[in-house]
Amino acid sequence: MSSRLDLFIDRMVSQRACLDHAIAETAGMPGPIYELGLGNGRTYHHIRNRVADRDILVFERAVASHPDSTPPPERTVLGEVTETLPVILAERGAVASLIHADLGGHNRAKNDAFARLISPLVEPLLAPGGLMVSSDRMYFAKLREQPLPAGAVPERCFVYRKPTA
Ligand SMILES: C[S@@+](CC[C@H](N)C(=O)[O-])C[C@H]1O[C@@H](n2cnc3c(N)ncnc32)[C@H](O)[C@@H]1O
Repeated sequence: MSSRLDLFIDRMVSQRACLDHAIAETAGMPGPIYELGLGNGRTYHHIRNRVADRDILVFERAVASHPDSTPPPERTVLGEVTETLPVILAERGAVASLIHADLGGHNRAKNDAFARLISPLVEPLLAPGGLMVSSDRMYFAKLREQPLPAGAVPERCFVYRKPTA
């Protein structure tokens, strides 16, 4: 049986593998990257270090990140994602090249219920061909689950693609 330490390490290793894979796969797409859940800012910092030519917009209810990993205020969408995602959809449409979501806490049942709630809010934000990386299984109508890249641990990270047609 996996320990909590095992699970944590698997999640971190999987996040990095899936993010690196998704960044490379969407490199030709000009649309912004949406980071849902800033937390300490580690994954935001990782994305920012590897992507120079795409805007990164961060969604967070309360910023408490490491100073090195804090996005500028004009790139931060403060509030509950259930409220802010529809606003950004209305303003910008289906433009995101990559969406990364790491919104969960320690309660797996709560995480799953929340993933079900926000899946229909996330799905329309992606541009055709765009990728979504999530720490929780999502419940999309049209996005297709993708094979995990080398190094990612099954069930610790999920990758979805929006079809182009
Ligand atoms: C696990 S942390 C993210 C960790 C981050 N990926 C990192 O590498 O440091 C989850 C974050 O999501 C935020 N969050 C959770 N539910 C949210 C919601 N409904 N709306 C906005 N932010 C939310 C929490 O405030 C928390 O900062």
